[in-house]
Amino acid sequence: MRVDRFLSNLPRFNRQQVRLLLIERRIKVDGQVISDPRHDVRTFSRVECDDEVLQAGKPARYFMLHKPQGCVSATLDPQHRTVLDLLDEPDKSELHIAGRLDFNTTGLLLITNDGQWSRRLTQPRTKLPKVYYVETEQAIGPAYAATFAAGLYFAFEALTTQPADLQVLSPNSARLSIIEGRYHQVKRMFGHFDNKVTRLHRERMGPLVLDESLAPGHYRPLTDEEIRQI
Ligand code: URA
Repeated sequence: MRVDRFLSNLPRFNRQQVRLLLIERRIKVDGQVISDPRHDVRTFSRVECDDEVLQAGKPARYFMLHKPQGCVSATLDPQHRTVLDLLDEPDKSELHIAGRLDFNTTGLLLITNDGQWSRRLTQPRTKLPKVYYVETEQAIGPAYAATFAAGLYFAFEALTTQPADLQVLSPNSARLSIIEGRYHQVKRMFGHFDNKVTRLHRERMGPLVLDESLAPGHYRPLTDEEIRQI
């Protein structure tokens, strides 16, 4: 929300006072004096007037998890363990998953309480590649790469998938890079050729690569540098 709106929503300031506070350079957001009324204030921002704290700001949290097989990418599930069960963190209900994986898919899962950050990561328009290692039941034929690059029509969503890059590694394995995350997208792409995916592992989302030292089921906080890259 804009800082002028944030301030005038507080019972103590009217709009005229807010204008003056900004002009008089008495407002700080995250330690910086702010005079632009359009400056963005988030739940993570610390907002001060003179030296009085108006909002302390919640800490933004970001984790990288190596998702194991057999767990649900959801915050709650009545039957199965969820990826959040693997996190030993307070206030887990505030966290969400940036790009889910299917029950038996393994690999990189990013979990955060920062909705803007996770949207940048997952929205197709930011065109960040999601890279998967794939194993299949049948051999991967020569037509696959061109078909995936041209895009496949998904009737249920009435859309054509964005160009995807397939690198065949062996007769039954490949690395696939896609820039969307449609429901069961990778399985449906191989399903177009009646080829069942037998193993699916996400290696990378944009610049963020699964940390090799994380065993399945383990996680770590992202570094400041990793957070900034998105
Ligand atoms: N595509 C799929 O089909 N499943 C996943 O888990 C991720 C991408």
